[in-house]
Order: sequence, then C-alpha cells, then structure tokens
Amino acid sequence: MGWNSWNHFECKVSDAIIRAQADAMISSGMKAVGYLYVNIDDCWQGKRDAQGNILPNEKFPDMKALGDYIHSKELKFGIYSSPGPKTCAGYEGSYGHEEQDAQTYAAWGVDYLKYDWCSAKGDQRAAYAKMRDALRKTGRPIVYSLCQYGHQRVWSWGASVGGNLWRTTGDITDNYDRMIVIGFGQNGLERFAGPGHWNDPDMLEVGNGGMSEDEYRTHMSLWCLLAAPLLAGNDLTKMTPATLAILTNPEVIAVDQDPAGIQGHRVWQEGPLEVWMKLLADGSKAVALFNRSGSDAVVTVSFDDIGVGDSATVRDLWARRDLGSFDRSFSANVPRHGVVFIKFRG
Ligand code: GLA
Repeated sequence: MGWNSWNHFECKVSDAIIRAQADAMISSGMKAVGYLYVNIDDCWQGKRDAQGNILPNEKFPDMKALGDYIHSKELKFGIYSSPGPKTCAGYEGSYGHEEQDAQTYAAWGVDYLKYDWCSAKGDQRAAYAKMRDALRKTGRPIVYSLCQYGHQRVWSWGASVGGNLWRTTGDITDNYDRMIVIGFGQNGLERFAGPGHWNDPDMLEVGNGGMSEDEYRTHMSLWCLLAAPLLAGNDLTKMTPATLAILTNPEVIAVDQDPAGIQGHRVWQEGPLEVWMKLLADGSKAVALFNRSGSDAVVTVSFDDIGVGDSATVRDLWARRDLGSFDRSFSANVPRHGVVFIKFRG
C-alpha cells in the first residue's frame, strides 16, 4: 500500500511535490491505515555522468536527501525505471546500466522499483531477471514491480523473475468504463496471486475527479476483493472527505490486506449484475454485489454460490454496521455503477 505520482501528476513531479505527498500521507491518516510507499513514477531522471551513473534532473536536487526525508516519516521510498534505453515518457532507462542503477537506488535508500517495459526489446523474462539479480546484489530489500501491461501471460512467470507484483493490463484512466474493463477482467487470474507475488490491475484513480462516489467505491471494493496492491494515485494534499473515506475505510482495507492473501473471483453474474467473493483467513467471506447497469437494481446472493451454510450474519463494510442474520440468501438494492460490500460469517 502506498502512493504513486503518475495518475495525478504524470510528468509534473518535483522534490517539493513528493515531500508534500509524504507529509499528507501522515496528516491525512493514510499512513495510519497502512499506506506506506511514496513512489516517484516516470520523469525524475536526468542524464548520466561520465562514469555512467544516473543523475536525477533539476527537479530533484538530491535523491538521497529525499529518501532520508521519506524515511524520517517512517515511510518507504519508491522509484521508477525501464529495462529499455528510454522510459515511456522518453527519459533515461536502465538498459546496459542495470547493476549500476540498482546500486545507485540502494545508495539513495530506495525500497521499491517499478520497472516499466516501454522501449525495451527482446526477451522479457531475461530483462526482468537481470534487474532482479542486480537488485539482489545490492543486499537491500527492494520491492520489485513489473510493468509490461500483462503481455505473454506475465502472471504465469512474473514470480519466477523475482516480481513481487506485475501489471496485468494496459494503463488505467480516471474513467468508469476503463476501470471496470480492467477490474472485472481480472477474473480467472486468482490462482497466480498470493503473499509476496501479486497481480496488479494498476494504481487507484480514487479522488482524481473522473468518477462518481459510487463508481470510486466500486473501484476500491473491487481492488480490495482482488487483493490488489493499493497505490493511491490522487493528490493527497487536496482530498475531499469522501475521497479520504473511500481510501481509508479500515474494514475495506482489511479485506485487501487479509493475511491469507487469496485473490477473490466472480461467483455469479446475470448481465450487468455480478457477485464476487474473497475467502478470508478467519473463514469469513468478503462479498461484493456489483451493479454495472445504468439504473439501481436489487442484487441477490444465494448462500449456495458463496459456500456458506443455511444461516449467516452479515456486516456492511462501507457502512461499518451489522445487518443481522440471514437465511439462504441476502438481497440488497445496489445503486447504478455502485456496490454493496459485505462480510459473511456462518
Ligand atoms: C506506462 C505505465 C504507467 C506510467 C507511465 C509513465 O504507461 O504503464 O503506469 O508508469 O508509463 O510514463
């Protein structure tokens, strides 16, 4: 869990912006519910020096000092590069400098690397394994995030090249139609995810303004059911109370962070109405009733479809309220593009 600069700031990043986001991570209460990584995405790179060492550009005067600042808040520091000669935005990539760059990142105190295919060519597995080895050689634990948009069924080999997470799709945008194509498209990938090696349906757009509150609740609920990495992608210094509530509901986050690390899947669908389920470590079940249609609808979960007995107690996770005991099925009115996210015990 953490934050990444791309979805909101794209290339408009700077040392001051990253520090302000780190500050806001604390003051907003995001850190208190588990958001930890402060990740700079593309556009921090400058040129290489005569020895080939990567230098940050003028917007980042001192990366080690920035890393120290982030660490002083007990947060973690993430950075971005490419196995190709250029990053997606045309900045300097790591091609031919993998070991040198890994050593530089470690010296700056980097804890997380997003490694984005972009201009790279050739054998993807070999390219990702090369940076894995370079990171290991530094002796510093660095989370390794593969970003190659789900090509070549990366979920089947991402862990073998050291990936802790791998993007399963192209880029998300702050748009309901794009978000649901990515999110609902994850069904079937659940057997490839588990503790330490996760499917990544891309970063969150919650709070960026392109979706309604119901749509953002759908986004957050779905990502939590998927045990997806939760990297907020909004400006943390300017959050509405609604955005903050969606990003920090502790019961919703607990589904994402459940120690069993089981990715949820679809258990029922009827046209635009869907029910998804995630088994939790304590045997209870997180269940989301989604309504992808254009008008409000009643969605019913049959207990047979989620493997609970005749009777179960139900808790509404967004409302943080017990709804009582139900027999054989549970029904709820779900707003258009919205979700009812509940937990079953029984
Ligand atoms: C690709 C990635 C994005 C972002 C940009 C940066 O499009 O998928 O997440 O990192 O590159 O240029």
